[in-house]
Amino acid sequence: MTGTPAPAARLRAENLTLSYDRRTVATGLGVDIPDHSFTVIVGPNACGKSTLLKALARMLRPKEGEVYLDGAAIASYRTREVARRLGLLPQSSTAPGGIAVGDLVARGRYPHQRLLKQWSAQDETAVTEAMRRTGVLDLAGRPVDDLSGGQRQRVWLAMVLAQETPVLLLDEPTTFLDIAHQVEVLDLCAELHAGRGHTVVAVLHDLNQACRYATHLVVMRAGGTVAAEGDPAAVMSAGLVQDVFGLPCRIIDDPETGTPLMVPAAPRRPAPGGDGRRLGTAVR
Ligand SMILES: Nc1ncnc2c1ncn2[C@@H]1O[C@H](COP(=O)(O)OP(=O)(O)O)[C@@H](O)[C@H]1O
Ligand SMILES: [Mg+2]
Repeated sequence: MTGTPAPAARLRAENLTLSYDRRTVATGLGVDIPDHSFTVIVGPNACGKSTLLKALARMLRPKEGEVYLDGAAIASYRTREVARRLGLLPQSSTAPGGIAVGDLVARGRYPHQRLLKQWSAQDETAVTEAMRRTGVLDLAGRPVDDLSGGQRQRVWLAMVLAQETPVLLLDEPTTFLDIAHQVEVLDLCAELHAGRGHTVVAVLHDLNQACRYATHLVVMRAGGTVAAEGDPAAVMSAGLVQDVFGLPCRIIDDPETGTPLMVPAAPRRPAPGGDGRRLGTAVR
C-alpha cells in the first residue's frame, strides 16, 4: 500500500487506564472519535461511559495512556484552550443556588472572555441562539432551581452550545426528556454534526435512537472495554446485544430509516403442552 496515512482524528484516546482512587474502571481503553462524526457510546450501566467522557474532556486524568486533542496531548493545553475546543455536558450537574437560566447559559461564554473584556455582542448572540435552539428562551428569567428535570437538561445543553466549540461531548443528553424532546435534542445534535461540521459524541441508552442517529457507534461492555465500533448497520447484531447486555433480542430494519431496530425477545412462559409461549401473544 502506498499513499499518505489518514490524518489522525482530532480527538482520540490511547491505552487509557481510568480509575477513581483504587477502583479501576478501564485498562487499555482506546477510541478514535472520527472528525465531524456523530459518535454515540452505548453500554451497560457502570461500564465506564461517563468515565471515558470525563477523560476525553480532561475532567479525569488517566492513570496511564493519553488523550490527544488536535494532535497534542490534552494535558498540555491550558484549561481555557481546552474549553474553546471542546464542551462537555456532564451526566449530572448542580447549578449555583438561585441562578437564573440566562445567567447559567451565559457561563458557557467564559472561555471566550478575556481579562477586562466586557460582555460582547457576539457573546449575547451565542447565548440567545443557544437558548433558542434548545427551546428555553422563554425560561431565561426563571431560577434554574424551579425548573422540571427536562427543562433543566435543556438549559445545561444550551450552556454547552453557547460555548460554541467544534467538539461536543454529551453525557446522556436525553435523560429526563419526554420522547418529543428527546427527538428534538437528537435532531439538534444531528444538525450540529451534519449542517455545521461539529464533532458530536453522546452517551445514549436507547439502542434504537443510537442506531438511527450515530454515524459511528461505540459499544462498550462491562469492565470498560470496547466490544465493537463502526457504522451501526455493520456493528449491531443480536449476538452483540446478548453479549454486552445479556438481553436476547431480534434485530430488524427500522421501518422509517432502515437502520437496525432492536426488539427485545418476549419472555416465554411454560405452557401446559410444554412449548414456551410468548407472554402477551393472543392464543387463537
Ligand atoms: N466519582 C467516583 N468515585 C468512585 N467511583 C466512581 C465514581 N464515578 C463512577 N465510579 C464508578 O466507576 C464505574 C464506572 O462508572 P461510570 O463511568 O459512571 O459508568 P456509566 O457511565 O457507564 O454508567 C462504576 O462502577 C461507578 O460506580
Ligand atoms: Mg454514565
